[in-house]
Amino acid sequence: MTTFTEITSAERPWIYTSPDHAISRINPLIYGGFTEHMGRCIYGGLYDPENQHGLVDENGFRTDVIECMKELNVPVVRYPGGNFVATYRWMDGVGPRAKRPKRPELAWLGTESNQFGTDEFMEWCKIVGAEPYLALNMGTGTLEDALAWVEYCNSDKDTYYANVRRENGHEVPYRVKYWALGNEMWGPWYVEQHTKEDYAKKAYQWGKALKLLDPSIKLILCGKNGCSDWDRYVLQECIRFTDMHSIHHYTSDKEHYANALAPKSAERAIEITASLIDLARCEINMDVFPDEISTKAKTRHRPTICFDEWNVWDPERAPGDKGAEELYDVSDMCAVALWLNVFVRQSRYIGMATVAQSVNVIAPLMTTETGIVKQTIYWPLLLFSKYMQGQTLAVHVRASAYHGRTSPEWLASTMELPLLDVSAALGDDGFINVAVVNASETEDAETELKVTAESVQVFTVGGNVNEIRDHNTKSDEKVSIRNSEWDGKGRFTFEKHSFTLLRWKADGK
Ligand code: AHR
Repeated sequence: MTTFTEITSAERPWIYTSPDHAISRINPLIYGGFTEHMGRCIYGGLYDPENQHGLVDENGFRTDVIECMKELNVPVVRYPGGNFVATYRWMDGVGPRAKRPKRPELAWLGTESNQFGTDEFMEWCKIVGAEPYLALNMGTGTLEDALAWVEYCNSDKDTYYANVRRENGHEVPYRVKYWALGNEMWGPWYVEQHTKEDYAKKAYQWGKALKLLDPSIKLILCGKNGCSDWDRYVLQECIRFTDMHSIHHYTSDKEHYANALAPKSAERAIEITASLIDLARCEINMDVFPDEISTKAKTRHRPTICFDEWNVWDPERAPGDKGAEELYDVSDMCAVALWLNVFVRQSRYIGMATVAQSVNVIAPLMTTETGIVKQTIYWPLLLFSKYMQGQTLAVHVRASAYHGRTSPEWLASTMELPLLDVSAALGDDGFINVAVVNASETEDAETELKVTAESVQVFTVGGNVNEIRDHNTKSDEKVSIRNSEWDGKGRFTFEKHSFTLLRWKADGK
């Protein structure tokens, strides 16, 4: 949670936080990933068996990708889509590889070879150290297929699909906890697009049956952007079986300020979704109180938000059916750091967030035949997952604000847009971590910041050593982390167009 006072550019910026003002626990699952059968994410990203440069293990998995996922400490990975899941038949992707059928794929108009499927994904997650999160096909798929998949993955009984798993060489169930009830079912591009009424009716019945089969699973309801009547309605109807409500946002703009500050719209979306969740938890008696929500609670259970697709993405620049290979610059790096600030600030509402996507497709990592490129946005992801854990701290910021055009347009009229965007966390190791995006394209910000330690670790990404359009290539890593130290005295200068993480021991030692 951040409070903000706008100042003029002549006044001194100021950031205040205290370890006494812890607000909520940060769920480590906010640093999750997403791998879809799309472009080069799976084939050529996770799985590259034909690679001739010694970059794969005995499973055909890219070892450089695995190392980066481990470095990012990715706790959970969503799979197999995305839009892809609308026509996916999970049974095609298990069993002997030679017998797996090739199928037309209708989301991105490719051909799915099914050489990578459930068992390969489970093995990959085990190596990476991440929990799997599977999305069910509620497009062409049936409830019977979904129940069979849950049984295949989770059952230890002597039943058909659990035995198919055993025959495929996997005696021990995978115990997949997180299951999504479809993906973007409202989308006109979606195979078997649903109305909110049709989706809610189906999701309720699926939720009931899936939880009868395995009461330990957590179900993620398919929301929209968190600010729509779809979100309100499906929550209202399905809250009983909903553990998390999924929302998606992508931001981007050609101009730096509109681009870097766009993720503030996600902050508003989270606040609105949290209100819709609370609304759904109440009994509404329209006959008696047409305009009021009665105080009677429908359920004490409070679903969290699963922000299971987020990132900077301009689909015109990087079209989905061409593999969505975005090239990220310093402006995008500022946006991604701001996205992560939003998740930390709003941690009391967020159960999980998975960046879309993890490899090659709108991703922090790009593979080539001979190696891997860590894009600019890799670095804030790394610093956040490493240090912005524990509890969110309240922060007060005094800074100047942006007043120009925004993307989306409504952002300018609904939210304050400080040029210093801040979140703070108190780690379980007793360190205070302060994450600051200086979104200004031209001005450093010399800032008052009360620090109770004589040594502050400083990690800076972007800033004065970079131009706003700098990006990384295989031969030229222009943007990475710069490490330094500050003695905690005087003021701290946040460089223009930078992300900085400051870290010091709360007790000053
Ligand atoms: O992440 C890329 C695509 O964006 C996903 O498949 C879909 O869910 C969203 O529209």
